[in-house]
This record gives sequence, structure tokens and C-alpha cells, in this order.
Amino acid sequence: MNSIDWQDVARRFSIPEGVAYLNNGSFGPVPTEAIETAVELFRTLESNPQEYLGIYRGRAAVVKTALGSFLGMKPDDFAFVTNVTLGMNMVASGLRMLSPGDQIVTTDQEYGAVENAWRFASRRRGVEIVRARLPAPAETPQQLYDAVIGTLTARTKVIYLSHITSRTGVILPVKAICEEARRRGIVTAIDGAHVPGMIPLDVESLGCDFYVGNCHKWLCGPKGVGFLWASPEAQKLLDPLIVGWGWVEDNETFLGNFEYLGTHNPTLYLAVEKCIELQTSIGRDAVAARGRELAAYARARILEIPGAGAQTPATADLSNSIQAYTLPLVSDFDFQAQLRERRIVVILGPEAQHMRLRVSTHIHNDTGHLDRLVELLRDAYCR
Ligand SMILES: Cc1ncc(COP(=O)(O)O)c(C=O)c1O
Repeated sequence: MNSIDWQDVARRFSIPEGVAYLNNGSFGPVPTEAIETAVELFRTLESNPQEYLGIYRGRAAVVKTALGSFLGMKPDDFAFVTNVTLGMNMVASGLRMLSPGDQIVTTDQEYGAVENAWRFASRRRGVEIVRARLPAPAETPQQLYDAVIGTLTARTKVIYLSHITSRTGVILPVKAICEEARRRGIVTAIDGAHVPGMIPLDVESLGCDFYVGNCHKWLCGPKGVGFLWASPEAQKLLDPLIVGWGWVEDNETFLGNFEYLGTHNPTLYLAVEKCIELQTSIGRDAVAARGRELAAYARARILEIPGAGAQTPATADLSNSIQAYTLPLVSDFDFQAQLRERRIVVILGPEAQHMRLRVSTHIHNDTGHLDRLVELLRDAYCR
């Protein structure tokens, strides 16, 4: 880890000098080489779309193989989709076996857009959604496991939950939950929006039925690249959300139903190859360790601010590169103006009872970025 020149890694991005970008949890900045690749391919594509669309679709298949080997998925078992929102809608609305009276179990920390996908689908099917209350911050993975498994009933047909939650960055014990779900015949759908590129991921080894991920957060891919993975058995459980050329009556296939849904821009997929190369050259463990190391650095300093509290557990089995905090509300400090002026990009804003802070730390960050955030907090709270 010490041999990695992190300043050199940071220089691989186009983040303007002076900007502290601490928000991969929302959108990851794209490495310059990937941007240039996408732009160049886009230019070529649009010079002769008739010719290049076919060529680039062929090349997207190569990138798919690379992404699959980076994340532990066989290329035939996952479809490129625009994002997790779409991928989860495909699962929620596509599951054929749900019927009135069934239950879906989830947690109280799910992402709003994905919640809507399940609420929409459940309303149409007359299915009930039950939310496990997760301890926040949790002290052990067992507590999280117990909260989810303790919510299951004989009516539960599906569990959907985040692998890493958006709100507090807690890592859920997905593998153990899926194992128990499988034992009980319950289908599992995992929202992995934050996992690819933050911590090492081997989708197949988790034992879930569906896994939906984003490449445009921690893998730093162009916006609009995600994937929907389904185990070979689970692929048979889904009806398509919409159909195009790939749908063949009486001879449907998973990829035919989910991957090719009309003309789109394949250059975005091709650029992801550069993002995988960057992370591979650093090493997946080193990427995760860097995020964790910076998160720990920030945490120690933020918790020195009077009134600050952590919402995220600190241990490596429970969190990595997203850490969330609460801070007291203050009326005479304009946080948004100060963030803009100091060029710090982070989630920081008022909620009912407190200020909410969510800090994302990734390979382009350094301790100087975190010092600047802490300085702002000190100006607000240590006057
Ligand atoms: C846990 C989680 N799931 C899903 C999403 C949705 O991602 P997208 O907007 O790319 O569909 C997000 C976005 O922040 C998220 O944090």
C-alpha cells in the first residue's frame, strides 16, 4: 500500500485543482483517460453510426467480460443497464411469483428511488412491504443479521436490501442473510449501488438471486452504466419490464429480455474498461484500504467537533468509505455558501433535529481534503 503514489492516482482525474471532491457516494468523477476514450469513441461513432454502432456493440461485449471478471459475474448472467434504479425496477416489477398477501422484507435504510420501485410493484400486486429496523450505528454484523432475519414471516417471499446503505454507509451481512433466505425459499435482491469499486466484490459468491450495481459511483465510470445480475435459476423468475428486438416469443432469454432495449450509446460502456484498468493497477484491496484509511482519519477529527456523533460503525466489517455523522443545527452559519466558497463537495445539510454530514473518501482524495472539511466544521462549531 505504501508503494502506491496516491498523488499520481489523483492526477489521473480531471477534478479541478482546489476542489475537495468528497462525494463518490452520489456520483464518482471519471478518470481523464476514460473521459478521453468516451469522447473519442463518441466522435467516431457519430461520424458513421451505421458502421460504428455494430463495431462498438461488439467491443462492449469484451468490456462486459472484463467487468464480469472484476466483480465475479459470468457475462451471460448480467445485463448492462443504465443504473440501479432501472435494474431494481426490472426485478421488482418483473418477479412473476408475487401475489396478494405476500410480504417483501427490507430495511429502514433503503434508497428512496429503489423503495419507490418496490412500493410501486407491491401496490400493483397487493403485496405488503415490511421494514426491519436496523440499529444505527450497529455494533456487530450479527445485530444487522438478526434485525433482518427477525422480521421474516411465513409470508415473506422476497428480501431486498442494500449491500452498503446510502444513508450511513453500513455494510450489511448480505452473504449470511442470503444463505438463510435461500434455506427458507425466499428470493433475495441486493442493491449494490455502492459496492463496485469501493470494496472487493464477488457477486457469485454472495449466494443472492439478484444483484444490481452501479459503475458510476465508486468505479468512477461515466454516468449511466450499471448492471443487473441474476443467478441462472433466478433468471427464469423474471418477466421483462419492456421488450425490444431481444424478446423472442416462446423462447425468451435473460439477455434478450434485459440487455438490448433499443438504440443507445455503447461508448459509455467502453469507457468503463479504463476505470477497471485503473482500479486493477492499484489493486482492489488497496483501493478499499485507502478509502478506509481516509475515512478513519476524517472520523477521528470530525468526532472532536463539539456535539458531533457518528451514525456509521467504525469497524472494517461494518463500513468502509462512506461515513455519516450528525452535528448540531446552527442558525448563523451558511454551510452551503461556505462549501461553495471553499470548494468542498460533500453531503452536508439540515434535517429535522440536526445537520447531516456524509463523507465519501476515495482514491483521488487525500488528508488535505479532509482537513479543509474539518476546518469548515471548526469555524461553524468552535467559535
Ligand atoms: C443505495 C442506493 N441505491 C440506488 C441508488 C440509485 O442509483 P441510480 O440513481 O444510479 O439509479 C443510489 C444512489 O445514490 C443508492 O445510494
